[in-house]
Amino acid sequence: MFPIRPAVQREPLHASITAEQISTLVDTFYSRIRAHPRLGPIFAARVGDDWTPHLDKMKSFWRSVLLKTGEYKGKPVPTHFAMKEVEPEDFRIWLDLFRTTALEIFDDPEAARLAHAQAKRIAQSLWMAMFATPFDRTPDYLTENG
Ligand code: HEM
Repeated sequence: MFPIRPAVQREPLHASITAEQISTLVDTFYSRIRAHPRLGPIFAARVGDDWTPHLDKMKSFWRSVLLKTGEYKGKPVPTHFAMKEVEPEDFRIWLDLFRTTALEIFDDPEAARLAHAQAKRIAQSLWMAMFATPFDRTPDYLTENG
């Protein structure tokens, strides 16, 4: 007999990725975001002085994405849709910082590449929800070539 439902796929995106690396990735990435002249003030205005809850939430988000733990239950689209101060090009900055940080933190460059590709895919859906009109072409920095 076949099972009624296929088993949920819980394989990590890449075998070398650990929860500890994700924690370091998130801490390092957001320390760079906070120091960035354009993105820093956007986050400061929304996150406030205590970054611990945001960092904890983002660690659980990235464990869900990269290790498939299923623990993050939030809804990032409405959260970002409400941020009218964000501009399309801000996503380029965000993704560049993420790529640099992932390449530093993960031992295997393939793990960094996969993590960045996932970030780009999610960025694309956030970007579409925030900015897209039927006439837009998706910018290069959000596509596979970017
Ligand atoms: C320019 C790009 C971006 C900006 C300025 C931005 C900004 C923010 C800010 C300020 C928050 C905190 C909101 C709050 O607590 O009130 C947040 C939350 C979050 N962001 Fe972004 N973000 C960006 C791109 C991304 C991307 C590309 C991803 C995923 C790959 C992402 C994933 C998340 C998630 C999961 C949350 C938590 C949402 C929740 O459950 O409350 N963000 N973002």
